[in-house]
Amino acid sequence: MTDRIGPGAHLLVTGGAGFIGSEPVRQLLARRDGTRVTVLDKLTYAGNRANLADVEADPEQAARFAFVRGDIADRDAVEPLVARADAVINVAAETHVDRSILDPEAFLRTGVIGVHVLLEAIRRERDRALAGARPASPRLLQVSTDEVYGEIETGRSVETDVLAPRSPYAAAKAAGELLVRAYHVTFGVDAVITRGSNTYGPHQHPEKLIPLFTTNALAGEALPMYGDGMQIRDWLHVSDHAAGIDHVLRHGEPGEAYNIAGGTELPNRDVIGRLLAATGRDWSIVRRVPDRPGHDRRYAMDGSKAAALGWSARVAFDEGLAATVAWYRDNPGWIASAKSGDWDAYYARQYGDRLAAGRAVDEAG
Ligand code: NAD
Ligand code: DAU
Repeated sequence: MTDRIGPGAHLLVTGGAGFIGSEPVRQLLARRDGTRVTVLDKLTYAGNRANLADVEADPEQAARFAFVRGDIADRDAVEPLVARADAVINVAAETHVDRSILDPEAFLRTGVIGVHVLLEAIRRERDRALAGARPASPRLLQVSTDEVYGEIETGRSVETDVLAPRSPYAAAKAAGELLVRAYHVTFGVDAVITRGSNTYGPHQHPEKLIPLFTTNALAGEALPMYGDGMQIRDWLHVSDHAAGIDHVLRHGEPGEAYNIAGGTELPNRDVIGRLLAATGRDWSIVRRVPDRPGHDRRYAMDGSKAAALGWSARVAFDEGLAATVAWYRDNPGWIASAKSGDWDAYYARQYGDRLAAGRAVDEAG
């Protein structure tokens, strides 16, 4: 199989201070094959330099690493970085569905304008490569999500399915993907897309289900379960997600999208039951609260295309979850920093009325 990105390449990872983005940075530098990584990150409430502390503390890795604080929608920040990159992994996005319902605009700014700015910079470098000013044009890997397919009542989504997003977050992600495809078709930009399923692991911001319920359970606080808790998600460990991104970057066919499916579909109630067991709590701390508007009932993807390319998930959910809970238990300082800034205001806005209207729930219903 051809390796389109060889050892010693210089990769630009946007959003690399976030939960998922920091993991390919760790994996790429840990190869110790001369690969250089520059992270461009705006450090929104979700970005955290501490997520990169491991690589910055290792002198050999730190020598091949650079961090730039900036916005992917800012052409002046993006152009010089893309000019020096052999490939761009665009992980940057606003990522929380609930926040996209409260305030959609930032999702469009990063997910649509930001992707456009990146694509224009890559297109410019492609033109320079064609003119002989650089050896090759940079490849883009656009990190997308299973949410672009919308909710799936039965069966599993395949890459050729129509995109039918149902939240502002998912619509912004679908728009970003469509721009990427358009630049590939129209301008010959070399690009691939990954559509990952629900990802969990260390360093995930506590606004999301698993870290929110873990950190609240550890603190003995209420767990706000939306609706009947029977919504289904397909769980993927962050190390598997990062390996999938890396594999598609190196081996994916230009212009193609690849589902990165975890292969562990579970109703939220099952995940909550496992988290209660792992944190030594019981159902008395769970509250059934009013549902998320437009809440997608189920996501499910067929992973055979990525499997045929040579990638599949490795981490068993129960093992990954136990290690994740242990990581949060061992990192109270990280949790405190993630639950700072606008956290209390966000929590009151998102959960204040919901928890007031919530009611007790037990394992059975
Ligand atoms: P995250 O919210 O933890 O991190 C996002 C990062 O992007 C942060 O570091 C933030 O500072 C940065 N960022 C945001 N806007 C930016 C901008 N305009 N310019 C530069 N940096 C910016 O998100 P995550 O959960 O790690 O998700 C990363 C990517 O993976 C997103 O594209 C998301 O759509 C996709 N994805 C996430 C999941 C999941 O379950 N978390 C699943 C599939 C796909
Ligand atoms: O499917 C991939 C997507 O997974 C990513 O593209 C998104 O960036 C990521 O945030 C995630 O989206 P979800 O909406 O599925 O994840 P979240 O953790 O917000 O919710 C998971 C499930 O748990 C969902 O059915 C809603 C439910 N939930 C969530 C929260 C935060 C609750 O019941 N209570 C909560 O407080």
